[in-house]
Amino acid sequence: MTSATVEPTTGIRQTTDRVIHFSSSSGNTDRFVQKLGIEATRIPLDGTPVQARAPFVLVVPTYGAEGKGHVPPKVVAFLNDPVNRSHLLGVIGAGNTNFHDTYCLAADIIAAKCQVPVFYKFELMGTPDDVDRVREGLEALWRRR
Ligand SMILES: Cc1cc2nc3c(=O)[nH]c(=O)nc-3n(C[C@H](O)[C@H](O)[C@H](O)COP(=O)(O)O)c2cc1C
Repeated sequence: MTSATVEPTTGIRQTTDRVIHFSSSSGNTDRFVQKLGIEATRIPLDGTPVQARAPFVLVVPTYGAEGKGHVPPKVVAFLNDPVNRSHLLGVIGAGNTNFHDTYCLAADIIAAKCQVPVFYKFELMGTPDDVDRVREGLEALWRRR
């Protein structure tokens, strides 16, 4: 479910969805977001740029690799757009506790760089409790705005 539309001249995917997420081909984060049952835009794996047209929460998994960063490169590119950064309200991290010290590190890195809160962290595709807590948290966030 998404309200995103592609701008015909630039090919940029523009969205007013309240959730924007990245998910690799393994699709864990996408499965979690689908379970929220709200409109969301997935940053495309084919490199199509996404531009946020309204405030949103970013859901991002961590991908660590020796000598490289932990934020997925397509998310780095997305956040390099100042318009996207200006609409970013906060981050929800996805990861795997097997990675110990770097559990959900991408969310912490983005939060520090963009000066926004980390709202929540969950493992893999999340538990039913994670889904309920995040759905309630997002509803409360939008009620306050
Ligand atoms: C190569 C690789 C490196 C990973 N590094 C981390 C890590 O440093 N910290 C973490 O919390 N999870 C790490 N993960 C786990 C992923 O974040 C987790 O599997 C997530 O659910 C993937 O989301 P996706 O399927 O939506 O891409 C790693 C997974 C892979 C395959």
